[in-house]
Amino acid sequence: MERIAGVARLRERVGQEKGRGAVVGVVPTMGAYHRGHLSLMRRARRECGLVVVTLFVNPTQFGAGEDFERYPRDLEADAGMAEREGVDILFHPAAEAVYPPGFSTWVAVEQGVEQGLEGASRPGHFRGVATVVAKLFQMVQPDRAYFGEKDYQQLQVIRRMAADLDMPVQVVPCPIIREPDGLAMSSRNRYLNPAEREAARSLFRCLQEAQRLVSAGERAAAAVIRAARAVLEAEPLVRPDYLEIVDPETLVPVELLDRPAQIAVAARIGSTRLIDNTRLLPD
Ligand code: PAJ
Repeated sequence: MERIAGVARLRERVGQEKGRGAVVGVVPTMGAYHRGHLSLMRRARRECGLVVVTLFVNPTQFGAGEDFERYPRDLEADAGMAEREGVDILFHPAAEAVYPPGFSTWVAVEQGVEQGLEGASRPGHFRGVATVVAKLFQMVQPDRAYFGEKDYQQLQVIRRMAADLDMPVQVVPCPIIREPDGLAMSSRNRYLNPAEREAARSLFRCLQEAQRLVSAGERAAAAVIRAARAVLEAEPLVRPDYLEIVDPETLVPVELLDRPAQIAVAARIGSTRLIDNTRLLPD
């Protein structure tokens, strides 16, 4: 695996492989790898001739008072894990290379899938995400780009951006990887102390409770949300942010569960903010 920090070298290497006809896959990440990240790399390895993983803790997608400063950074450990997955290139640009002095062009999905959920709780977040992913696509020029459904709204924002801006990249969604007890893997899980880690199970449990009700025949989204919320509220350490049931494509809230819908949750546990989601299927 080659580690590359500069865009010129990256272009040269990708250009060489494209010249040989290789399909180029990219996995954008912020590091602190866990099995979720590794599953994306593995999928890319299976499907692409050249696999580029980007590692950049993007300052513009963090709000004031969020965890940019303390976000876990361990390039050596991450590089080791990426290498073991057979990644060809680990691209880790410096902040000044991505946002040089005078930088002033932004990419923003507006009045669409970025509204509500994370978009409502974290103003400016998706503008930072869309801008950096657009830039990473420009730098890598991938044929395929792998994103986890863990960040469900982010996936829809990237899809929208790629379609609207005619980016010649196929966005590939990948399933959520979970701990044995159901907690969705996240770089932020390492912030949790043992009591908080125990309480964090309630995020997945509330999604399961929602699916249980839907399978039992409940079709009113409001009733499902109420029951799921009760699961969260039974945990004194958990402070719910949002719990919503939305259309899987438009992310507009739905009232009647007569077709598949997406349930999404965000909650604070101590100083840690966690998200999760799943597809609700009326059978
Ligand atoms: P990061 O949080 O590092 O996540 C990188 C990718 O890993 C994202 O596509 C995310 O959805 C996926 N991922 C995280 N946890 C996962 C899990 N448990 N199962 C499956 N996939 C999982 O998302 C970002 O970085 C950034 O916003 C980024 C897209 C890199 C832009 O800065």
